[in-house]
Amino acid sequence: MPDEAQELLAAAERVMRRAYAAYSGFKVGAALRGSDGAIHVGANVENASYSQTQCAEASAIGAMIAAGETRITAVAIVAERVEHCPPCGGCRQRLSEFADAATPVYLGRPGAEPRVTTLGELLPLAFEPGALAG
Ligand code: THU
Repeated sequence: MPDEAQELLAAAERVMRRAYAAYSGFKVGAALRGSDGAIHVGANVENASYSQTQCAEASAIGAMIAAGETRITAVAIVAERVEHCPPCGGCRQRLSEFADAATPVYLGRPGAEPRVTTLGELLPLAFEPGALAG
């Protein structure tokens, strides 16, 4: 089991406990490794106006951008109520803005063998920033 996966999953689980999941009770934590090696984390933030909910991945991307990082080299996602929590469709697109098709995505919990996939596997034929150039 790669150490990187365990470190990222542990960071995702820590921040998951802080999730504000007042309506669904479904707590999610995400951890992103930036190109400089630093880890950026985020949790889901729900709202009484349900559609204003922010996913954990979006929160983590916000933290990463605020820290001055724009490239993701690995992703981990942990949820309290399921063994594996694949990112929702919108978050696959959000992640693809800052990551490559080969970027590993670790799903699971610290201490257990993660399910390892890649962003390209989760979002084939992605609409990428390059499409807007030219
Ligand atoms: N959620 C995430 O944070 N990330 C995902 O990729 C899937 C869903 C959150 C949103 C909402 O607060 C709760 O899980 C139930 O949908």
